[in-house]
Amino acid sequence: MRKRAPFIEQMEDAECGIACIAMVLGYYGCFVTLHEIRERFGLSRGGSSLLQLINIGSGYSMRCKGFKAGFGQIKNLPLPAIAHWEEKHFVVIERVGTRSVTIVDPSFGRKRISREEAEARYSGHILCLAPEESLQPRKAKNKWRFFIELALKQPKWLISILGVSLILQSFGLIAPQLTAYITDHLLLDSSQDKFAVIGAALLSLFIFYELFSILRGWFLAKLQSSMDLLMMTTFIGKLFHLPYSFFESRTGGELLFRTNANVYIRQILSNRMVTIIIDFILLISYAVLMLVRSTGLGAVVIGVGIGIFSILIVTTMITQQFASREITEQSRTQSFLAECIYGITDIKLLGAEQHLLGSWSQLFRNQLSTTQRRSIWISLLDSFSSGIQFIMPLLLLWAGSGAVMQGTMTLGGLLGFNALAAAFMIPIVSLGSAYTQLLSVGSYLQRIHDVVEARSEQEEGGEEVASLQGKIEMNHVSYRYSAFSPYVLQDVHLCIEPGEKVAIVGPSGSGKSTLAKLLLGLYRTTEGEILYDGRPIDQLEFASLRRNIGAVLQDTKLFQRTIEDNIRMLDEQISIEQVVEASMTANIHDEIMKLPLSYATIVSENGGSLSGGQRQRLLLARALVNRPQVLLLDEATSALDNLAQAEIDRALSAMNCTRIIIAHRLSTVINADRIIVMNEGHIVETGTHHQLLAQQGLYYQLYTNEEEKKHDIAI
Ligand SMILES: Nc1ncnc2c1ncn2[C@@H]1O[C@H](COP(=O)(O)OP(=O)(O)OP(=O)(O)O)[C@@H](O)[C@H]1O
Ligand SMILES: [Mg+2]
Repeated sequence: MRKRAPFIEQMEDAECGIACIAMVLGYYGCFVTLHEIRERFGLSRGGSSLLQLINIGSGYSMRCKGFKAGFGQIKNLPLPAIAHWEEKHFVVIERVGTRSVTIVDPSFGRKRISREEAEARYSGHILCLAPEESLQPRKAKNKWRFFIELALKQPKWLISILGVSLILQSFGLIAPQLTAYITDHLLLDSSQDKFAVIGAALLSLFIFYELFSILRGWFLAKLQSSMDLLMMTTFIGKLFHLPYSFFESRTGGELLFRTNANVYIRQILSNRMVTIIIDFILLISYAVLMLVRSTGLGAVVIGVGIGIFSILIVTTMITQQFASREITEQSRTQSFLAECIYGITDIKLLGAEQHLLGSWSQLFRNQLSTTQRRSIWISLLDSFSSGIQFIMPLLLLWAGSGAVMQGTMTLGGLLGFNALAAAFMIPIVSLGSAYTQLLSVGSYLQRIHDVVEARSEQEEGGEEVASLQGKIEMNHVSYRYSAFSPYVLQDVHLCIEPGEKVAIVGPSGSGKSTLAKLLLGLYRTTEGEILYDGRPIDQLEFASLRRNIGAVLQDTKLFQRTIEDNIRMLDEQISIEQVVEASMTANIHDEIMKLPLSYATIVSENGGSLSGGQRQRLLLARALVNRPQVLLLDEATSALDNLAQAEIDRALSAMNCTRIIIAHRLSTVINADRIIVMNEGHIVETGTHHQLLAQQGLYYQLYTNEEEKKHDIAI
C-alpha cells in the first residue's frame, strides 16, 4: 500500500498548523504529539503563521521551504506538503491528480475533493518539508495504554466476567446439539419415554442460564463502577495538576467534553473487552463444530461469514470518518454553548442573543446532519447483516435438503447445523460492530490522551513550604508566552525584603499581571530565576508555596457557594474565627453580617449578587485567611472608594507581611516603601513617590495625568 500521512486531529482551531506538521513528520516515520509541539514551542492563541511552522519543522530536523506557488505548480513539488487554505487554515496536500486532489484536513480527516474546489480554497502559499538525515524515527504512542492499564488493575472483575460469560456461551453450544437430539430421538423416533427426562433437563438448563446471566450482570456493574471511579479520579487528578497555561489555551467546554468522553470510552471498553474475547472463542468453536458435522456446508457458512466480516471491516473505515466528524462537531457545539452561558452578561449587554443563537443553531445543525448521515449509514449496515441472518437458515435448509434425502445427514443433524450456523453469525456481526465502536473510540481517546500525556505542573515534586519569611528575588527574569511571541518581560531584576510594601505601576499591557503570575509559579520564566527566601521557586512545591502567598489576581473568581466556603475554599482546617478575622481585615465583615444568612449566604455564580467592591473585598478576605507572609494584589481594590481603600491599607500594614501591590490608581500606592514603574516589559524607574516625582519621568507623567483628571472632574 502507498505510504500515507497519518491523520492527526487538531483539538482546537489554533492547532491546525502544528497538526499538519505532525502529520508530515508522521509520514516520514517520526510521530510527535501536538501536545509535545505545544510544550516545546508554545503556541500563541491565534494559531501559527507559515514562518512559525517553518521554525517548528526545522526544530524537528526537517528542511522547510515556504513559498508562494500557483496551484498548477503543486503537483511538481514533493508531497505531502502543507498548504494555506481559505486564508485561515492549514491542510496537508497528499496527492494532486488530473481531476481530484487528496487533502488531509486536520479538522476533518482525509478527503478527496475536485481540482476546482481545491484551487478555489487554496490561498497561494505552500510549505514543503523534506527530512534531514538527522531525523530520528519515533513510534506513535499507544493511545489505548492508559485505559488498558486501568482495566487490568481490576483483574478480579474482569476474570469473573470472562468465566461466567464463557459458561453462559457454552449454553449456546449445547442448544444446537439438543435440537439435533430432540428431533432425531423424540420427534422422529416417536419414543416418548425420554420426554420427561429431557423436559427436566431443559428446565434446569433454563434455571442455570438465568442464574449465570444475573451473575454476569452483577459482575459487569461492579467492573464498570470500579473502572469509572479509577478512570475519573486519575483523569481529574491529572487535569487538576496540569499547568495553568494548559487551561489558558483550551476552552472550558472542550475540557468538559473530554471529561465526559471518559464515561463513553469506559462504557464501550467494559462491555466490549469481554465480548470481543468471548466472540473469538465462540467463533472458533462454532466453526470447528460445523466442520465436524458437515465439511461442505460448514465451509460454505464459514466462507459467507468471512465475506460479511470483510465487508463490515471495509465499511467501518467510512463509519469511522462519520464518527470522528460527529465528535468534532459535537465538541464544537458544546464548547460554543459553554462559552455563551459563561459570558451571558456580555451577550445581553450587547444585545447579541440573536446572532449567537444563529451561530449556535448553525453549529447544531451541522452536528445533526453528521449524526443523521452516520445513522443512515449504520442502519444500512445493520439491515445488510440482519438480512443475511434472516435468509441464512432458510438457505441452509434448502441447500441441506438434498443431503437429508440422500441419507448422508439426519433431519435433526440438519436442524442442529442450522442452529449452529445461526449462532456462528452472531459473534461475526458482533465483532464487526465492536470494531466500528472501537474505532470511534479512537477520536475520544485522542482527546483524553492530550490530557493524560500532558506534563503535570511539577512532575518531580518539590520541597514543601511550611512558612515564608517573605524575601523575594527576581534574577534577570525574562518571559514570553511562546517561542514566537515577543518578550513580555525583559531582564526584570528585583529584590523585595521581608515586610516591604512594593507597588508595581505602569501603563496597560506593560507586563504587570504577567509578572504576578510568574511570581506565583503559574508561568515558568523563559530566562532568569525567581527565589523565595533564597530558594529557587522550581525547588518548592507550588501548592504549598501558593498557600503561603495571599493572592488576588485581576481575573480571580468567586464560586457559587456560601460566603464562608468562598473565603475558606473548602479547607476544613480553617476555623470560622479565622474567616471572620480575615473578613474584618478586608473590611467586609459588617456587610456580611447584614445579609440574611450572614456567612452562610450563597454567592451567585461569579459573585453576580454582590457589588464590584464587595466582590473584591471578599476575594481579599480569601487571600488573607491563611495569614500569608506574602500578599500579592493585582488591581485587587480598584473598585473601592478611597476611604475604604485607606482603611484596608491600614489593616494590612498592621499584618506586617511582604506586600506587592499592582495598581493603576496611583493615589493608592503613594505610601508604598518602593514604587516600581514598568513599561513595555522593563523596569524603567524605582523609588518612593517623592523620589519618582522629582525624577519627572514616566511616573511623574502618569501621576500628573491622574491628578489633572481628578481636577477636571471636580470642576
Ligand atoms: N495568556 C497570554 N498569552 C499571550 N499573550 C498574553 C497573555 N496574557 C497577556 N499577554 C500579553 O502580554 C502583555 C502583558 O500583559 P499583562 O496582562 O501582563 O499586562 P498588564 O501590565 O497587567 O496590563 P493591565 O494593566 O491592562 O492589566 C500584553 O501585551 C498581552 O497582550
Ligand atoms: Mg494586568
